[in-house]
Amino acid sequence: MSGFDPLVIERGNAGDPPTHAEKSGRRLFVKSFGCQMNVYDSQRMADVLARDGFAETDRVEDADLVILNTCHIRERAAEKVFSELGKLRVIKADRAKMRLDTKIIVAGCVAQAEGAEIFRRQKAVDVVVGPQSYHRLPELLQRAERRSAIDTEFPADSKFDHLAVPSPAQIRKRGVSAFVTVQEGCDKFCSFCVVPYTRGAEDSRPLAAIVAEVERLAAAGVREVCLIGQNVNAYHGRTEEGGSASLAVLCAELAKVPGIARIRYTTSHPGDMDASLIHAHRDQASLMPFLHLPVQSGSDQMLLAMNRRHKSADYVALAAEIRRARPDIALSSDFIVGFPGETEEDFEATLALIETVQFAAAFSFKYSARPGTPAAELKTQIPEDMKAARLKRLQALLEEQRQSFNRSMVGRRLDVLIEKPGRHPGQIAGKSPYLQPVQMDGDVEHIGEIVAVEIVAAGANSLFGRIVPDQAAREAFR
Ligand code: 5AD
Ligand code: SF4
Repeated sequence: MSGFDPLVIERGNAGDPPTHAEKSGRRLFVKSFGCQMNVYDSQRMADVLARDGFAETDRVEDADLVILNTCHIRERAAEKVFSELGKLRVIKADRAKMRLDTKIIVAGCVAQAEGAEIFRRQKAVDVVVGPQSYHRLPELLQRAERRSAIDTEFPADSKFDHLAVPSPAQIRKRGVSAFVTVQEGCDKFCSFCVVPYTRGAEDSRPLAAIVAEVERLAAAGVREVCLIGQNVNAYHGRTEEGGSASLAVLCAELAKVPGIARIRYTTSHPGDMDASLIHAHRDQASLMPFLHLPVQSGSDQMLLAMNRRHKSADYVALAAEIRRARPDIALSSDFIVGFPGETEEDFEATLALIETVQFAAAFSFKYSARPGTPAAELKTQIPEDMKAARLKRLQALLEEQRQSFNRSMVGRRLDVLIEKPGRHPGQIAGKSPYLQPVQMDGDVEHIGEIVAVEIVAAGANSLFGRIVPDQAAREAFR
């Protein structure tokens, strides 16, 4: 889980013929907080509701139905929801003055964790729906015509069995790179983490269902899939023969889908990085050389208290083994500073691990006590100002490594998947194999292609390059 920017799903292309939803005129606005799994879930909720007559809008004031797909991982993420709801209450009241009805849905992990408490804190909310129940949204909305409705069950039937199929136009609008949830929930119970409580026990989707979904995406022009799961490398999906497929097997199957050129996966636990997956990084060309592998801390005491089930040296050895299999692989990680009881020595052990491993990217957080998790009960909580000071030091080191990794690309040729128009007219933008944004001059016709690009400069957040003009060089590079 990473990338905590809110995402707004935008409305369909003006060029598409009007759908039933557009004709019936009901509009949906979805805002997604937190991890990529929420982005995926938001799209699936939009797909379910499209079947029921809702077209997406990017203007919240126009929406008959607003969904906040929420995140509970840290306190700040959860509190953001209530400030958003305050703004929505005003919009709902303004629309009511114009005799327009507005329904407000709180979905996702805050819904799961707080349940009916949300209605008490914000009366404008109509529906509360947990991450396992979004396929029941149409029914919940019907119930909400009479009174507020809630569903935070962990139903026996998987929501994946009820997925609405998005139209090819919807898929195209979402871009050439797509998230696909392959696994959900977590059985690891790290002592700081709410995920095992909000997302429930680990559950893998069957292999064939994922292959079918990726085939559909590829047929609509998707070139890259990012397989997501809270603990994605624990994936063990049922096969049609009654066996179980590992993530390495799943990746190999997806690489056979015509059109799919790149495969990524996130987020992984070091303990589930088995030999078959490490070898897949050596053997499978479509598996991109970028791996997000959270370590959280470099101190054995902290790792034990966090219930991470490995030592610092195990992680360092694992990183080395992965690099032996795929020498150019870029590693990324998550870190928590100020976990209860963290001493200066513990913190310095984290800095030392970072110096040893060298990361191309990272997410880092101050520890946030989450109700119901074991670490929240510990008496050795660290003062906020100490957490802030440590986070600053940690981020300075990580940023130095990120910049140095980006600078090392200058002068190299990289395969870039072109995703969208660039910042300025005449420019296009895409991603390197190492997940770096790359900007260059070029025609939007290249969108969806993988082109060889010579990197000429590294900015703070993007690389800048030139498409290698010679076609032969380009093909040879592929
Ligand atoms: N406090 C701070 N960070 C947390 N994370 C998860 N739970 C907490 C918490 N209680 C971070 C971890 C995880 C990432 C998704 O969020 O680093 O890998
Ligand atoms: Fe949370 Fe740990 Fe599971 Fe990751 S592995 S989702 S941090 S409990």
